Amino acid sequence: MNREDFKMLDNDIVYFDNGATTFKPNCVIDSMNDYYNNYCANAHRGDYKISNKVDIEYEKVREKVKDLIGASSSEEIVFTSGATQSLNMIVLGFMAHALKSGDEVLITKSEHASNVLPWMELQKKMGIVIKYIPLNDDLELTYDNVLNSITSKTKVISIAHVTNTVGDIRPIYEIGKLCKEKNIYFVVDAAQSIPHRKVDVIENNVSFLAFSAHKMLGPTGVGVLYGKKELLEEVVPIFVGGGMNNYFLSNFEVEYSPIPNRLEAGTPNVAGVIGMGKAIDYLMNIGYEKIEKHEEDLKRYFLEKVKRIKNVKIYNPNSKSGIVLFNIDDVFAQDTATFLDYYNICVRSGNHCAKMLIDELGIKNTCRISFYLYNTKEEVDRLIKALENSKNIFDIVI
Ligand code: ALA
Repeated sequence: MNREDFKMLDNDIVYFDNGATTFKPNCVIDSMNDYYNNYCANAHRGDYKISNKVDIEYEKVREKVKDLIGASSSEEIVFTSGATQSLNMIVLGFMAHALKSGDEVLITKSEHASNVLPWMELQKKMGIVIKYIPLNDDLELTYDNVLNSITSKTKVISIAHVTNTVGDIRPIYEIGKLCKEKNIYFVVDAAQSIPHRKVDVIENNVSFLAFSAHKMLGPTGVGVLYGKKELLEEVVPIFVGGGMNNYFLSNFEVEYSPIPNRLEAGTPNVAGVIGMGKAIDYLMNIGYEKIEKHEEDLKRYFLEKVKRIKNVKIYNPNSKSGIVLFNIDDVFAQDTATFLDYYNICVRSGNHCAKMLIDELGIKNTCRISFYLYNTKEEVDRLIKALENSKNIFDIVI
């Protein structure tokens, strides 16, 4: 799909690490170069033509993000450095004030570090109670397990929409409904979903949403925090400084700006935001339906072919996203990744920043394939061929 749009693909690399980051189409890179070459000014600070253009282009992206996730207003969209910053702002800027000691927060053991460590910080600081919703035998999160984990003390459910490990797609519509009924804050980490599938914050009753641009064809160092207006207004800024205040006086009187600017202290990543806007245009031109189907086809094709290779174990054959976790029997995952790199095939190996999943998976390290729209069946064939050669792995990895 549109491979000619990606210069990185000229390098004879088979890139199956799209869960970590994605390649960028030329239009994204061009849009950022255009900003740097033709209207490079700060945002929200100038009174001249090129700075006005920056403001217009920057705010256009806020509108695009609003439409992408179905938010009610662009005021609900805050630009951050990525999903990690967004989640930290939600937990440390909002939950630290909204929760009290003893309140329960439900997460799972397959959450990424960025949806675990901020909560652990809060547990240390103020005694909230983190509880893990059990996963089923496929290491997936089910609605029933969510329902059965809720107590009268549950105040937050904070989960990835799609996990970066087993790649299960969580039933966020049903969970969101439950949160509404029971008055629970619903925090969704959409880092691994929004590049591949539609996420609608209103339909799913999401209180806060976080994602990064770089996993959806955009640049690194930029992402989004969405919050329902009445909640976002209560987020206490973790960073304060230029661009987020109306005034401050020598007598210490300070007035901060309204959202979203209040939560965007300092010079923003203007080029990054503009690049993210182009990435959204690019994705929307293709359409989520086509992207999802393409990834499903690739995954099915891979799973069908890999069955014939007896020493390859697949850990998540039933998950619905384009993520496959595997190991070669008796081979350390990092060695497998190094072996595949010999064939210019990139996969991720390790614990994928979901370090508690080991408890459930019973194995510390795995290799991960994560497909995206520019991957092809020919590339899968190359991977299969390399895996068929894996009996020679230690001739290559020394
Ligand atoms: N969280 C990213 C991944 O899953 C880095 O690879």
